[in-house]
Parts: sequence; structure tokens; C-alpha cells
Amino acid sequence: MYMGHLRKFGNWGSVAAKLIASNALKLPSFHDEVRMWVFEEVLPNGEKLTDVINKTNENVKYLPGIKLGRNVVADPDLENAVKEANMLVFVTPHQFMGGICKKLKGKVTGEVEAISLVKGMEVKKEGPCMISSLISKELGINSCVLMGANIANEIAVEKFSEATVGYRESREIADTWVQLFSTPYFMVTPVHDVEGVELCGTLKNVVAIAAGFVDGLDMGNNTKAAIMRIGLREMRALSKLLFPSVKDSTFFESCGVADVITTCLGGRNRRVAEAFAQSGGKRSFDELEAKMLQGQKLQGVSTAREVYEVLNHCGWLEMFPLFSTVHQICTGRLKPEAIVHYRDHKA
Ligand code: NAD
Ligand code: 13P
Repeated sequence: MYMGHLRKFGNWGSVAAKLIASNALKLPSFHDEVRMWVFEEVLPNGEKLTDVINKTNENVKYLPGIKLGRNVVADPDLENAVKEANMLVFVTPHQFMGGICKKLKGKVTGEVEAISLVKGMEVKKEGPCMISSLISKELGINSCVLMGANIANEIAVEKFSEATVGYRESREIADTWVQLFSTPYFMVTPVHDVEGVELCGTLKNVVAIAAGFVDGLDMGNNTKAAIMRIGLREMRALSKLLFPSVKDSTFFESCGVADVITTCLGGRNRRVAEAFAQSGGKRSFDELEAKMLQGQKLQGVSTAREVYEVLNHCGWLEMFPLFSTVHQICTGRLKPEAIVHYRDHKA
């Protein structure tokens, strides 16, 4: 049963700023200042979030108790935040990326490189559009991705973890991103498979929802391990159907199996799905998200819907029973128990 606030979940955007800020100060090849666009909010005491971040050096709403680094400057003005920047790091819940890219269209000029830490995708008439592609198409710039087993509050207190940078063409650009993010407690590996890395980060959120159902129904570790295995197999199968260039080896990087494990053990998607199953599907994900995450956002429920749309459109539903069952449970068409009531088709 869910009781009270869940303070242990952290915000990846703020932790990413902290990682970058420490390296920007240390490495001469980067400017010291890290300008961080923050969606402006008014706090209960009437102060603006960006003012408080700049005064206290903490994101008091989304990552309280962690100093970001004195060279981080919060800016509520998106256009101003990107002015003259030649390296753009995107970290926001995926549902906001369409609007952000629209606002930035034509505002990003010169030799600019981007990296997306956003786990998610958009579904357009033509099919799925990964967030790195959205950035490239809308802003006319190259975009790498960084994904991995990266529960934010653990990295915030500098516990060791790994991550994967996915790149399309230039290894040199990938190495620059690796330099910008790497610390002794954050080990980053470049992989020449942008789609594979990004699809791992995106699809594992659907598997995490399934793992949460298993936990909510108290089905035990063997069942959860089975769900993780089947989930990983569906992740690989769908990634390869969408992008035949995706490599098997990518699923053994931090962005693959490691992220499936950490998210199914300790993530927000798992936690909220657990509460959903405990309520017998009676409490909606929207209600639980608002109550349990206090402004933070789930990615798995909307990704399950987006994946379902793609599967339905392509006639692949039967090949992906786990993915399609998760969506049907989220929408109330099936009971949470259905998470183990399907035949395990060979995806
Ligand atoms: P979050 O889930 O904490 O969501 C809150 C963030 O959304 C805040 O930064 C807030 O300023 C912003 N926001 C709220 N309303 C907005 C709006 N209308 N427009 C734009 N932004 C708005 O965010 P997060 O944890 O930084 O997650 C961002 C991405 O990073 C997601 O794709 C997530 O899957 C991924 N990610 C998260 C973690 C984690 O542990 N938190 C780890 C790895 C990857
Ligand atoms: P949640 O959004 O489920 O917390 O997952 C965080 C994550 O992506 C860890 O790598």
C-alpha cells in the first residue's frame, strides 16, 4: 500500500547538470558556465523555482539536498538558454520534447551538437520518431544519445554507475560527450548504434511497468526475472524490426540489460505500476503519478501506448505479447493479473 510522499526519486535533468558542471570546470575544452533551462514554476512560498535554484544552487523541488555546482545557472527563458551554445543537452520527460523543439526551431544556429538523455519516442503518421531524430529534424543538428542504468538519486550522491553514448557518425563527437559526462563514479562507453541505444532506453520503461505489476501482485522473483527476460527479448526484436542496423551487442551495454534490471528493481515506473496493481487497477496512473511523484513524470505508460500504436499499425501485436498486454492493463482493458496470462510468442 502506498503511504505518503516518495522523496527518494530524483530528477535526471538536475543530476546531468551536476555531472556536466563538474567537468566544465575541470576541462579547459569546455566553457565554465552551464546554462540550464528550467520550466518555470512558482513554489508554495511564492518564489520562482529558477530564482531559488540560482540562490541556493539546489533544485529544491526536483532534487533537494544536492548542490548542482556554482557554475550552473538556471534560466526560465528557453531561447536565451541556448543562445551561443554549441553543445545542447536535452533532458526532459519525452512528452514535452515536441513543444520544446517547436519553440527552438530557427533559434539554434552555427556549429551545434546535441545529445538526448530523454527516454521515449513520438509516434507520427509515418511511424515512430525517436527523440534524437526529432531534434535533428526540427533543429537541423546532429544528435547523439546517452542512456543507461542511471537512477538519478543514486548518481546524485555519487554512487558508481555506467552509461552508454550512442552515436550515428562521428566517433570524435561521441568522445567529446563521453568526456563531458564521465567522472570516476560515472563511466561512459560510446557505441556506434544510436537507434539501438535509444530504443533500449525507451522500451525498458514498458518492461518496468510490467515488473511493477508483478511486484504489486506479489508474484515473486522468478516471475519478475521471467518478465525481464521476455521484455529484453521483445526490446531487441522490435528494435531490429524498426531499425535493422541495430546491433545485438548494444543489449549487453549499460543501456540494455543493466537498465532493464535497475529500472525493474528501483525505478519510478516500477513503483507506480506496483501501486496500480495493488489497487486492483482501480486508481488511475494519472492519479498515482501526481500523488507519488509530485511533479515528476512517468514515461512507461505513454510509451506503452505509443508502442501499441506502432504494433497495431504494423500488424505486429501478436509478436509482442508483453508490450501489448502492458498497454491493455494500463488502459483497464485487462486486469493486472493478465501480465502472466499470455502465450510467450517467439518475438
Ligand atoms: P522528471 O520525471 O523528474 O520530471 C520533472 C521535470 O519535468 C522537471 O525538470 C520539470 O522542470 C520538467 N517539466 C515539468 N513540466 C514541464 C513542461 N511543461 N515542459 C517542460 N518541462 C517540464 O524528469 P527527469 O527525471 O529529468 O526525466 C527526464 C528524462 O530522463 C525522461 O525521459 C526519463 O525517462 C529520463 N531518465 C530519468 C532518470 C531518473 O532517474 N529520473 C534516469 C535516467 C533517465
Ligand atoms: P524511472 O523513470 O522508472 O525511474 O527510470 C529511471 C531510469 O531510466 C533509470 O535508468
